[in-house]
Amino acid sequence: MERFAITGYGEPNKVFQTITAQPREVTSGHIRVAIHAFAINPYDVSLRRGEQQEFRSLKFPYVMGNDAAGIVTEIFPGETDFSVGDRVVIHPVSGAYGQEVVLPTKKAAKIPAKLSFAQAASLVTTGITAYNLLFQLLHVNSSQTVMVLGASGGVGSLLVQLLHQNKNRVLASASKRNEEKIKSWGADEFSAYDTEDSGKVFFEQADIVIDATKGSKSGAIGLKILKPGGTYVALNELPTEIERKDGTYLRFVPKKDYQDQRAFAYLLNVFAKGNLFVNIAEILPFELESVIYAHEKIAGHPAAGKIVIAKS
Ligand SMILES: NC(=O)c1ccc[n+]([C@@H]2O[C@H](COP(=O)([O-])OP(=O)(O)OC[C@H]3O[C@@H](n4cnc5c(N)ncnc54)[C@H](OP(=O)(O)O)[C@@H]3O)[C@@H](O)[C@H]2O)c1
Repeated sequence: MERFAITGYGEPNKVFQTITAQPREVTSGHIRVAIHAFAINPYDVSLRRGEQQEFRSLKFPYVMGNDAAGIVTEIFPGETDFSVGDRVVIHPVSGAYGQEVVLPTKKAAKIPAKLSFAQAASLVTTGITAYNLLFQLLHVNSSQTVMVLGASGGVGSLLVQLLHQNKNRVLASASKRNEEKIKSWGADEFSAYDTEDSGKVFFEQADIVIDATKGSKSGAIGLKILKPGGTYVALNELPTEIERKDGTYLRFVPKKDYQDQRAFAYLLNVFAKGNLFVNIAEILPFELESVIYAHEKIAGHPAAGKIVIAKS
């Protein structure tokens, strides 16, 4: 069974290698899934660079990857929720970069025929994060005006759509080049951070500000947009104590009691109603060169949309 592993920390073309791994046994509460598509996240780039060593030590060769979709190929005897042949979306703790993975059933959900493997893989970390942030951390209610900074991103694009479905007033910011897409996803108003001062445009209009930019680039803008006493959430760094105005400041982090299947059920329901657009920038062949290319690209500032590696 082939997998795409890193042999150490460093540049993608130096550390990625195809390895042959022994298939793991399927134990109680687990399923084996043949992976048909996996998506790359900014977090993977950070992990490969060694930036997460303080929080997570890796044993090499290490197979990363949390976002994938495929077909169930083996179940534990007595398993009732899944059958061999089911099409599933999966959220393993690692190991999505490869031909198969064994994972707990609670980290998987069946997907409808009209959701492609590439679309499903693109919805995993992004969708689970957007859902948990809005409905588990914030318990957002539809009367609130919400500002999404980084609205063109994997997480931001889903935040905009889920908020729109929830009938919130959605303010959004990203590069000018992404304006039309973001409006089509349901943003009520848009301001491009690269052509104007979005902080001035939306000054103190938002009950909630969510910084979903890569690397928390928009703290100063977000603080201007936050109503005094409002709630500010960051996917990365929060503004410093000195910078902050009166309000509640929360850093979103995944928690054990956030259940993946609840998030998947919500996202798949929105998709079934025709209200969820999955923005994919590129689908690449299922090979090592694609993984290297994707990591190089995501380390920069690519066009909006997920980069997915998929079998044809
Ligand atoms: N805490 C968690 O559990 C968690 C979960 C998921 C993701 N994250 C983190 O959240 C961030 C977003 O993830 P993602 O997957 O959505 O990333 P992504 O798809 O790469 O999106 C990045 C977003 O950042 C914006 N951006 C890039 N450079 C910017 C700049 N200089 N100023 C303002 N905006 C800028 C992009 O806007 P334009 O391209 O339009 O300029 C885009 O909207 C990443 O840092 C990721 O690691 C954290």
